[in-house]
Amino acid sequence: MKKLNSEQLRKLYLDFYNSKNHAVIASASLIPENDPTVLFTTAGMHPLVPYLLGEKHPAGKRLTDVQVCVRTGDIESVGDASHCTFFEMLGCWSLGDYFKQDAIKWSYELLLENLEFEKDKFAVTVFAGDDTCPRDEESAKRWEEVGIDKDKIFYLDKKHNWWGPAGMTGPCGPDTEMFIDTGKPKCCPECSPACACGKYMEIGNNVFMQFFKNVDGTFEPLKQKNVDQGMGLERMLCILNGYKSVFETDLFAFAIKKLEELSGKTYGENEKDTKAMRIISDHTRTATFLLGDRNGITPSNVDQGYVLRRLIRRAMRYCRSLGVDDGALVELAKLYTEKYKDAYPYIKENEEHIVRELIAEKDKFAKTIEQGLKEFDKVLAHLPEGMSVFPGKTAFRLYDTFGFPIEMTKELAEEKGFTLDEEGYEKAFANHQALSKAGAEQKFKGGLADNGVQTARLHSATHLLNAALKIVLNDNGIQQKGSNITAERLRFDFNFPRPLTTEEIAEVEKLVNEQIAKDEPVVLEEMSVEQAKAAGAIGVFTAKYGEVVKVYTIGFSKEICGGPHASRTGELGKFRITKEQSSSAGVRRIKAILE
Ligand code: ALA
Repeated sequence: MKKLNSEQLRKLYLDFYNSKNHAVIASASLIPENDPTVLFTTAGMHPLVPYLLGEKHPAGKRLTDVQVCVRTGDIESVGDASHCTFFEMLGCWSLGDYFKQDAIKWSYELLLENLEFEKDKFAVTVFAGDDTCPRDEESAKRWEEVGIDKDKIFYLDKKHNWWGPAGMTGPCGPDTEMFIDTGKPKCCPECSPACACGKYMEIGNNVFMQFFKNVDGTFEPLKQKNVDQGMGLERMLCILNGYKSVFETDLFAFAIKKLEELSGKTYGENEKDTKAMRIISDHTRTATFLLGDRNGITPSNVDQGYVLRRLIRRAMRYCRSLGVDDGALVELAKLYTEKYKDAYPYIKENEEHIVRELIAEKDKFAKTIEQGLKEFDKVLAHLPEGMSVFPGKTAFRLYDTFGFPIEMTKELAEEKGFTLDEEGYEKAFANHQALSKAGAEQKFKGGLADNGVQTARLHSATHLLNAALKIVLNDNGIQQKGSNITAERLRFDFNFPRPLTTEEIAEVEKLVNEQIAKDEPVVLEEMSVEQAKAAGAIGVFTAKYGEVVKVYTIGFSKEICGGPHASRTGELGKFRITKEQSSSAGVRRIKAILE
């Protein structure tokens, strides 16, 4: 096997597929732009969904890239040898061009000839077939043609050999996966890559995307047959170099070393500290990429921002368990921006913003964690003798008052030998939501200071401002990055790379005031999130498919939003921008009033 570092492996992969006429494209953002059903880009194919469905890609029918991905579904597994919440996926695609024969031939050439994986340790799986799609005899035949023995080809069911869709709906299909036999003994006579025993380690996957999964769970054939290949960079580096875990690769080794220095402890010496070092390095790397992304997000209590907050706070909590100051996150983030500066220059460019946000979150967390931990211990001390369940209501209070992510309370409780009453927590959470207005209104949590008439007017003005900015700056990519309304003023953050000119500010004011002068009624409609999207509504598309959302049409603005709003634009008075300033790297902040 070739012992490569991360730079060499990225290059080898891209060069290989480029030599097979694949155009090298850039990694897309970690924040999906067209899929409301997922929070993050979870696979290389995700940003390419329109092209897998038949739209023409400007770079052609064969593409290759290294895509940054975030998957937090397995967050509890981080700390073992291979799970990461952020990872890079080496990928290549045929968009209705070549299919199984070339995909398999090139996979073989890449893995066995170029990367020099040993043939007698190589194994593959193919789809065994079901009502949706027949047994994949062709893939098996193609593997045999390139020289893989029959006994190294395993037929597996849908649970193992079907991939996608990435969200709730989308392109998907049967796949053929590639494995390395680690040499461990068979766990049972039927031992195969389907086992979780660790004998076989996956190194890559070719998905033959031929179906579209609908909302109702049915599958429809796609217009074109695609190949979607994905290989995890970290995992591959680990296998190639014979490391025991991804944390030994060049993408993590320096971070682990830093934590050893700061803590005076040795990685690998005991399970508790090793796990803490892994979690801190992993979560800080993910936070660095989420904060530094071009659609970068900041910690908050909703959606992506909440996941980011969870990651940062979880890493900080493990800093405490390791015995280092949680400022270690800042030191690690700086090492990561340096490490990734060539592959992802925007991470380095956004370093200042990343560091500022980490410090702000550290300060916020520091204020509450001490109190929260005291509260936690107090609750434990007062639980009746013999009780082993930590109450859900208390877990909710820790979340609501002290900002404790629920996963953290769960882990704390489990460390002390308690189980968490998760159902009770959910109930308390739901009760709280019902009390402080249901559903979509929650999106505005923290945005509206009170629901008075004036804040409702300013809220409507915020929608008009958002729409006017897109027109004046001629930029549909403008997105709300934050909103805060008091009875006196509105504050609106949005992504834009430079200050607005005096003329642009005047033009925005003019457009908003024109809409006010028209005295149009504010129209509220309820529809599914898909209908809202089709109607051109903007907003945070985090509702589930089929879920009914509120859409407010206010003059030239249409937005998914929970309200409340004025009833007519005429009620708004005169709109004036009082300040335009930078909020953070690539984010502008406008303050405005209604006179
Ligand atoms: N999209 C496929 C995967 O994530 C390649 O495994």
